[in-house]
Amino acid sequence: MAGVRFVIVGAGLIGPRHAELVLEMPDCSLFAVVDRSANGPSVAARFGALHFNTVDEMFLYCDEYGVDYPDAAVVATPNHSHASVGIQLASKGIHLMVEKPLASTPEDCVALIEFCEKQGVILLVGHHRRFNPYIVAAKEHMAKVGTPVMIQGVWALKKCQEYFAEKEWRRSKYHGGGTLMINLIHDLDLLQYLLGPIQRVYAELLPKQRMPEAEDNHVDEGAALTLRFANGCCGSFVCSDNVTSPFNFEAGTGENPLIPHNQDMAGFYRIFGSHGTLSVPDFTLYHQNDVPEKDHSWWKPIQAERLDVVSSVAPVEESSGFMTPPPSFDAKEMLFPTGKSQLPRPFDLQMEHFVNLITGRESVSKCSGRDALSALLCIEAVMKSIETEQPQVVPTIV
Ligand SMILES: NC(=O)c1ccc[n+]([C@@H]2O[C@H](COP(=O)([O-])OP(=O)(O)OC[C@H]3O[C@@H](n4cnc5c(N)ncnc54)[C@H](O)[C@@H]3O)[C@@H](O)[C@H]2O)c1
Repeated sequence: MAGVRFVIVGAGLIGPRHAELVLEMPDCSLFAVVDRSANGPSVAARFGALHFNTVDEMFLYCDEYGVDYPDAAVVATPNHSHASVGIQLASKGIHLMVEKPLASTPEDCVALIEFCEKQGVILLVGHHRRFNPYIVAAKEHMAKVGTPVMIQGVWALKKCQEYFAEKEWRRSKYHGGGTLMINLIHDLDLLQYLLGPIQRVYAELLPKQRMPEAEDNHVDEGAALTLRFANGCCGSFVCSDNVTSPFNFEAGTGENPLIPHNQDMAGFYRIFGSHGTLSVPDFTLYHQNDVPEKDHSWWKPIQAERLDVVSSVAPVEESSGFMTPPPSFDAKEMLFPTGKSQLPRPFDLQMEHFVNLITGRESVSKCSGRDALSALLCIEAVMKSIETEQPQVVPTIV
């Protein structure tokens, strides 16, 4: 075994995807898979790694046989266990990549962040969309709008019934179900990545339409938000998982091969600034740069410039418009895509970044524990606003 030695903790849906990526990295090896479920041994065998039922069992093995502990871990267990598993691993100096959300409560997030700092271990959180080429490009182009003043965003689609039938927690708000916790957290994380911290939110819950007769289905179907960022920029965002609409991140970027890619989509995010407006994912920049700044006004034509970075990230093999819809919902396909795409894959870039942080090739985490805590606090503020019918200040993270 050479290079950075990994353990994957949690061999469910996403853990094996990370194991695959570790083996694809040139200077990494997979030491072990930890999972006490029936899946554990077969997943470990598939990747040629040792299997342990628990993290403690792995430590005992290392102590008994004089084997070094692994250098790095991917924590891909259910949300409520991230903090305890992460603390166990960090106590032995093991660097962590923890799947999103960092934990299920802000208190657990803080405990894990502070413990990792004390131990001097790296903590990267798996908000992988930050590595999506469309978001990388959006961040690069942000300066072209001048001072951001206002934003408008949308994430809207209709989830299928199978999605809710497949896993009980998806129908239970007490176990992290509902589109605000599952989906909106991604968009608020990305908006904060692009514009800085959200300071205040006001949210109105959308009417529920799905399975109203089912007693176990108490999860939200979305909300309409008003946002104020710490830099003064304000905006609105609507989020629904029960409307017929192509206006969402996945359809606009083609990130999830199960969701038909609409290559003609414009403006799931619009960022309006003092000098222009940037529309994502089409990367149209609306501006008046052909006339002196003193003459910018409503009397002059607006130029619509297609920023060329789009052509460098867009897949070329698909025809424009909608792809053929998939025959049925299969969560595995989402994580182990078989469809061809020429886009750099966010999960690969995220793993590469983690290894670079460990080996010192990069020094600044693209998604720190505090970034992930901040996204969770925004969602908590949204929930509280719905409950109280009042705007809520998002606590500042120091
Ligand atoms: N970034 C993404 O797009 C994305 C996608 C899917 C899941 N996730 C996140 O990944 C995590 C796992 O999700 P999943 O869908 O793979 O869950 P899952 O339920 O399919 O798998 C979790 C596995 O962890 C194991 N496990 C539970 N407690 C454990 C412990 N203490 N030690 C070792 N193993 C333990 C279980 O036996 C199970 O096999 C969640 O936090 C989820 O939010 C992220």
